Parts: sequence; C-alpha cells; structure tokens
Amino acid sequence: MPNGQRQHVIAGNWKMYKTIQETEAYVRELTPLVADSDVSVFLSVPFTAIRSASEAAKGSNIHIGAQNMNDASEGAFTGEIAGTMLVEAGANFVIIGHSERRHIFGESDAFINRKVKRALDDGLIPILCIGETLEQRDSGSTEAILKEQLSQSLADIQSDQMSKILIAYEPVWAIGTGKTATPDHAQEVHVFIRETIKELWGEDDADKTTIMYGGSVKPNNARHLMEQPDIDGLLVGGASLTVESFSHIVHYQNALTH
Ligand code: PGA
Repeated sequence: MPNGQRQHVIAGNWKMYKTIQETEAYVRELTPLVADSDVSVFLSVPFTAIRSASEAAKGSNIHIGAQNMNDASEGAFTGEIAGTMLVEAGANFVIIGHSERRHIFGESDAFINRKVKRALDDGLIPILCIGETLEQRDSGSTEAILKEQLSQSLADIQSDQMSKILIAYEPVWAIGTGKTATPDHAQEVHVFIRETIKELWGEDDADKTTIMYGGSVKPNNARHLMEQPDIDGLLVGGASLTVESFSHIVHYQNALTH
C-alpha cells in the first residue's frame, strides 16, 4: 500500500464483470501465483464482490478495492455507494474518475475532486484516472487536458495528501481498443504529468507520486512499459479478467517478449 514513496503497483480493473462465485475462485487461484511478487497487487472488483474478495485475499499480498464511490457520506442518492460502506466491506482503495465514468456517466472534474477528498477522509487510497480522447490528442491538446484534469480533480489537495493518491494515465483512445500508447510515448506523457505535479505541489511530491499507465496493457507489452523510468505501475482492464494473463502481467519482469 502507498507509504508516501513511489511504488510499483499492478492493478486489475474488472469493470462490470464477475459474480461473487467467480471472484472467490479467481482470488484463490491468483493468491499463490503472486505470493512472491515484489509489486503491490490491486484488484478493483464490483461492489457486490468486495466482501468476498477481501475475505478470500486475507493474509495475501492482494489489495481489494472499488471502481467508484459517491462524494457524500450518506444520503438520498438512489443507486450510489459511500466510501465508508466500501471500507466496511473490505476495500482499501477506489478508482476515481475512470474515463468510462467521465464519458458514459458524465462525471465532471469538480465531482471527481469531491470524491477524491471524501475517499481520503474515509481512509481509502484514491487512484485518480486522467487521460485525453482521440480528438483531443489529434488536436494537440493532450497536455492542456491533462493539466486541467489534474489541477481540477485535485483542487485543494494538500501536499501531505498527495502522498496518499495514485495517478493513472489512461489515454481514452487506448482503453479496450488494443491500441497501447508506445512505451516511449507513455513515458513522455508521464514526465509531463510529473512536471505538472511539481509545478502544482512541488518537487518532493512529484518524485514520490506513483503514476500508473492504463490502456490495452497485455502480458506482452507490460514489461516494456514498466521499464520506463516514470511508469510506476499499470492499470489493467480486459487482461485482468483471467488469472493467467493478470499473473503474467504481475510477473512482467519474466516476460520474454517486449
Ligand atoms: P483495458 O482497460 O486494459 O481493457 O484497455 C483499462 C482500463 O479501462 O482501466
């Protein structure tokens, strides 16, 4: 778990896949395969599976989290979920501002900012997702968009809180499309993100922030991505759905092809 230093994290984001039974079987199978890994292993599972996943993962090095939460502590918000409920169910972290939340469900940076603050108050590690669309990339506005998302989604976040937040750069055009950013390109963008953190919070925070890459990460590209000096972790969607491919990504160092 985040300890105020940059760390290597491999996180699975299951999205709307897997029942409770499927989750238990997956975690049981994954546990021995990643027991010797020196990266932190995170699994972001559906709300209904958090409790059983965290019970199945007890005593292992797998951390269980959620994919979303509301910004309020409780209230008349039909269909929403509070951070305290996630913690009680066994979640350690929560993905906030995933592009599917931003684009399909219309979440704004201001809403995402309130969620990040609530997650921190509730004791959850937020993984804040940022990323440009293809259109924004083609029009040359990637950096402006990332800077806006960072400064607005993390508005009023203090330096001591930055050490508890993980950032995931997920170019929207690379999510679920099979088109990964090349490791060099991803590295360049990560450097820009780190520079922006430096500008907004200072050099110390910039050096310590874990910045993950996401978007069509597979067993055969994980190693090359992780070899980049500013890519500290990976957020994996489709390839986290089978134990086989996810465990290969966790053990990216052993990959022959890259
Ligand atoms: P993908 O998804 O690996 O299937 O591209 C990544 C994500 O959405 O977090």
